[in-house]
Parts: sequence; structure tokens; C-alpha cells
Amino acid sequence: MTDATLMDKIVAVCKRRGFIFQSSEIYGGLSGAWDYGPMGAELKRNVKAAWWQSVVHFRDDVMGLDSSILMHPTTWKASGHTDNFTDVLVDCRKCKRRFRQDHLKGKCPNCGGTEFTEPRAFNLMLKTSVGAMEDSSSVVYLRPETAQGIFVNFTNVIDATHRKLPFGIAQIGKSFRNEITPGNFTFRTREFEQMEIEYFCRPEDAATKYEEWIKARYQWYLDLGIRKENLKLRVHDKDELAHYAAGCTDVEYEFPFGLSELEGIANRGDYDLKQHAQFSGKDLMYHDPVTNEKFYPHVIEPSGGCDRGTLAFLVDAYHEEMVNDQTRVVMKFHPKLAPIKVAILPLLKKNEGIVALAKKLKSELQKDIVCVYDDSAAIGKLYRRQDEVGTVFCVTVDVQSLEDKQVTVRDRDTMKQERVSVDQLHKYLKDRL
Ligand code: GAP
Repeated sequence: MTDATLMDKIVAVCKRRGFIFQSSEIYGGLSGAWDYGPMGAELKRNVKAAWWQSVVHFRDDVMGLDSSILMHPTTWKASGHTDNFTDVLVDCRKCKRRFRQDHLKGKCPNCGGTEFTEPRAFNLMLKTSVGAMEDSSSVVYLRPETAQGIFVNFTNVIDATHRKLPFGIAQIGKSFRNEITPGNFTFRTREFEQMEIEYFCRPEDAATKYEEWIKARYQWYLDLGIRKENLKLRVHDKDELAHYAAGCTDVEYEFPFGLSELEGIANRGDYDLKQHAQFSGKDLMYHDPVTNEKFYPHVIEPSGGCDRGTLAFLVDAYHEEMVNDQTRVVMKFHPKLAPIKVAILPLLKKNEGIVALAKKLKSELQKDIVCVYDDSAAIGKLYRRQDEVGTVFCVTVDVQSLEDKQVTVRDRDTMKQERVSVDQLHKYLKDRL
């Protein structure tokens, strides 16, 4: 299978099974925007929950935040986005198409033309306006990153929680960028979700914390089932770094369209807090209650894309296997990420006893296991459907179940079937999920 075919197949299964749809498809679609269907919404929620659990709940030094998308416009002056968050664009003089200059290799990829307009900087922030008047004073931006919402709340969080260094603030939220060339499915979009942490520490600890976060974030993807051969760390060269940054390392995934960034872990020095202190006139220094020192903490920033992570989990989970001369498509998600953990399938949908038992099992299991009841097709078709959405176990209720009080549990990955007593079913599933 070529890589292009593989990506086409993944896009097709995403549509067929309700993971991802094109935005506003009935109107011809909107480029750079995607909708998550019933399965995709569950999958993405699971990705975010796994991240939050790992970086907030399982640690003692990171707290959560949920800041607004619309922020005071000076935020973006201070962060540098108003002046520097740009792509350099040129237009082909022949076909009038617009391109990022750094993507061009001499000729126009559309018409082969060789003459271009002068390069112009194009700001990637999406603008809107607030209030009843539309003038320059009403302009606000849809945030291009969630990070600045954390920096501007730095002293609020300290005042409210009395935290001492080192500590981090984590948040998940939508960000927007007017990307010139959105593409590769959900990899580069104009609206996306980020999962970001700003980890504040003493300047002398920054190098160690930077290394710790690189390890922790790399390991997170492996723990959730990404195959090691598909995951790489890439250290940025000095000339790629922002002038204030001491280092940056990307976690990259081997997508069918090439090795690409999932997340960046940056050692940002004290740039951000200093900038906001200067532009706001507020004291954003850390006051050490023991030593009485006042200083700007240094910041380590692990910044990942939720949609990109979700896409990597989808790609890595996709498997095709030959079973009885037929291709079985199966999404081998880590059980923690699988949209549905258990499907309960009555073998005969007209048999009242079977249906009653199957529905009873569903209502018991659903209290703490995400499960579905499905009787809309023959069993072979139902299995195929559940395999394609990555359901970890299928539980089949048959005539025999009414007598021996046992059901058949089928494992997604091995397809092995086991009879399990109804009394033991919850424990059996819990132990394996
Ligand atoms: N605060 C730092 C920051 O925003 P970034 O490298 O620009 O850094 C962080 O973005 C992550 O956000 C990326 O690694 C990527 O996963 C995700 N991301 C950025 N732009 C994106 C886009 N246009 N579409 C989807 N995800 C995007």
C-alpha cells in the first residue's frame, strides 16, 4: 500500500464510521476546518482526558486553567504576535495564485510560472470585532495559541493557590490561525485545539526541567500505544530558535505524508512574563517567600496539538488483516482511547429473552464503561462495524445465554471468543480495559 493510499483509506474510514467530517460539507465544505462525528468526538475527548490526567491529576506540581479565546489586544502586542506572527507570501504573476515564499522551489506549482510579486508579510491571526461599533477600537483576535491566557493569569494563579516554584499551569482549548495552506486532513487547519503547559521554575533549574518534560511528553504517546518506530524527537537547530529561547525539541510522528510535528517542548527563558510586565505595567515577578528574592521565573512550554495527536492515534491504530479471504479493517486503539469499550450484541433481535438480557447488561455496564447496544444487522456485519471503530470487546447474547447465564466475549485484536458468566462480566471487562 502506498502512503497516499493509506492516508486516503484513513480519511475514508473516518467519514464512513463517523470520526471526522468535512466542515459545512452540504455547502461544499470550508477549507481548513473539520467536524468530529460521534466516534471522533469520543476519541478526542479521550485524548484530552488522558493528557489532563497525565499532566494535571497524576502530578502534584501542575494545575489546570480554562482561559477565554478573546483577549485584550495588547496581549498580542506583548507576545510578539501582532508584529511577528507572519508568513511571507508571494503571488504568481501568471495564474495569480498565492504561495508561502518558503514553500516555493523556483516555479509556480500551479502553472509553472516563474515571475512573482514582491514578498509581503501576512499576519496569521484571525480578526473579529466586539461590541456594536466596528472600528479600530473594537478589534479583537481569536487567540492563535492558548499559552498567552496562561501567562496573563500567572499572578492570579499564585495569589489564589500560594504555589511555590516549580509549578505549571495547563490548559486545553481552541486556537485559530489563518493558515495559507491548510492540508493533510486535520494536520494543518485554521481552527484547532491545543494542549499547552507553561511550567515555571527557577532559572538554574530550567535546563533539567526542559529535559524532564521532553522525556515525559515523548513517553505519553508511547504509553497510549503509538509504535516506537513511528515516534521521533527532533532537536531544533540554533538558527530555528526564537532569539529568547534556549532550546526547543519537537515530538514528531511518521505520518503517511511524512515525519511531522505533534508537539514542541520549548525552553523559553523569562521572555513572556517580562514582555507582559512591560506592556501591562504590572509586577509579574515571582516573590520567593523563604529567601525574599524577587525574579522572573524561567518557563518550559510543552505545547501539543490535540487534533494532530488524535490524527496520529488514528493513523497508528489503522490495521488491515486478511481473515477468511476478506480484508478486516480494525482500529487497534489503546483501550483508554477507544471511543467505545464494549458493544452488546443480541444474536436474535426478535427473541424477547435475549433482548431483555442484552439491554439489562448494557444498563449495568454503562455506569462506568462506555458501551453501545446494537441489533441493527447480522452478527458478522456488527463485528465488522465495531472493529472499524476500534471497540475493544463485543459481548454477544445468544439463546444459550438464557440457560447457562453466560455470554460470548470477543476480543478486538485477537478475535478470540470466550464464554464468560454474566455475574463475572463486569469484572472480566474492567480487568482488561
Ligand atoms: N505556544 C506555542 C505554540 O503555539 P506552535 O508550535 O505554534 O507553538 C503548538 O503550536 C502545537 O499546536 C503544534 O505542535 C501543533 O500540534 C499544534 N498546531 C499548531 N498549528 C496548527 C494548525 N494549523 N493545525 C493543527 N494543529 C496546529
